[in-house]
Amino acid sequence: MKDVKISLPDLLKARNRKQEETKTIHFSLAKEYENLGKDKTYYIFTYGCQGNEADSEVMAGIFEKMGYVKATDPYLSDVVILNTCAIRENAENRIWGVLGNLKGVKRENPDMLIGICGCMPQEEKTTNRLLESYPFVDLIFGTHNIYNLPKLIKEAYFTKAKVVEVLSCQGGILEDAPKHREHKHKAWVNIMYGCDEFCTYCIVPYTRGKERSRAKEDIIKEVSDLVKQGYIEVTLLGQNVNAYGKDLGEDYTFGDLLCDLDKTGIKRIRYTTSHPRDLDLKTIKAMATCKSVMPQLHLPVQSGDDNILKKMNRKYTHQMYLDLVKTLKEYIPDIALTTDIIVGFPNETEEEFQNTLKLVEEVKFEGAFTFIYSPREGTPAAKLKDDVSLEEKHRRLDELNVLVDKYYKEGNLKHLGNVEEILVDGVSKNNPDYLCGYSKHLKLVNFKSSDHSLIGKLVNVKITEAKTWFQMGELVDE
Ligand code: SAH
Ligand code: SF4
Ligand code: F3S
Repeated sequence: MKDVKISLPDLLKARNRKQEETKTIHFSLAKEYENLGKDKTYYIFTYGCQGNEADSEVMAGIFEKMGYVKATDPYLSDVVILNTCAIRENAENRIWGVLGNLKGVKRENPDMLIGICGCMPQEEKTTNRLLESYPFVDLIFGTHNIYNLPKLIKEAYFTKAKVVEVLSCQGGILEDAPKHREHKHKAWVNIMYGCDEFCTYCIVPYTRGKERSRAKEDIIKEVSDLVKQGYIEVTLLGQNVNAYGKDLGEDYTFGDLLCDLDKTGIKRIRYTTSHPRDLDLKTIKAMATCKSVMPQLHLPVQSGDDNILKKMNRKYTHQMYLDLVKTLKEYIPDIALTTDIIVGFPNETEEEFQNTLKLVEEVKFEGAFTFIYSPREGTPAAKLKDDVSLEEKHRRLDELNVLVDKYYKEGNLKHLGNVEEILVDGVSKNNPDYLCGYSKHLKLVNFKSSDHSLIGKLVNVKITEAKTWFQMGELVDE
């Protein structure tokens, strides 16, 4: 089989940040692709962050515009796409595992078209490995060119060759793309793309390009349309939403956007992710005054030690983070704070780790995603020598998790006896007699009900029990 190598990734190029205008691409489907998917099915496996989930919704929308129908069984699908994540080695290993399974499926069904996209192919080492060892992968593309899906699919079909198009550019903005949204009552809304923070451990600035904000008019229109369609909740997405607007060169920043979106009539607004350095008073005030902005914030801290924070290039200290939390609590007293923490950054000492535990005790996060540092090729931290054993890193993670769980539960106990407003997501995973959904503070709440007409609605639930990771409650009659 002959490879059609259109474009390969280049990490050095991906690191460049040039002063050039961001291009907006307005999606429209050319006639030649309209019936490409007639009588055919597609399936997308999605890994990674909400950014990838949102991208998969766009790809699903594009497939359906081409006439494809979503397959019920992925392994019987005509096209299978893996939308991948490169954040840590274990995220990547999962995907290599799925690819291994697909090898057998492809042997049984040689006409199946297998594609891989997202953050992994943006890494040189991944695309090289795919080309060398995974001959059954037909299509490789990245994060910057999902608008090109119809053309890439057509080429893969008709040339029967491997099609590779990974762009290591600063990235554009895609507007007017069709979307097949997963949910009918809550939606992801991208407000910006990329990241310019360059935390020394992180691959995202290389896989996602520079920070670029969507025009406020486009975001406000998207949310207004969602309101008209009956959506209750939006989560605004970006790797660093607090940097919204900075690249547009106007005075209009994230706090202004929150206030304007509040006026659209959407009932609930959340956002992720925030960088503590860029979270400003205007945003905190907007959170306090806009009724629709939920009293909950995910504010990744990564470490509680000043030396490690410096080595991570996080640009704040333990004390600065505490001061920010104090201000947040002054304006939004009941705010539920969650975070991300990395243990075992190269050469992290026991004392430095203890500073992280100290910060967790001081802030009492109501939940945290905790990770063992994973070296990412091409990032500055990956070049550091590391004298901490993996065993010790696991021990630190376990110790941290015990503390995190303690405050997770304390956070859930706070609402015991209260009547909370829950947006009902669906039937509880563990018990078909229960429905589940999220409170304003983003607490997962289960309550007994067989009334499936409540799904997608706001209901009142009295919290009767607090577990570590969720709450139990009883439906309250209006
Ligand atoms: N933009 C977001 C999060 C991006 S990735 C932010 O800055 O908050 C989600 C989380 O993965 C990060 O917050 C960090 O805790 C973790 N992470 C990123 N790179 C990592 C690495 N190399 N090893 C371990 N964890 C990592
Ligand atoms: Fe990665 Fe840091 Fe950007 Fe988050 S802010 S995506 S951790 S570089
Ligand atoms: Fe993973 Fe890429 Fe998101 S690396 S966390 S899918 S931006």
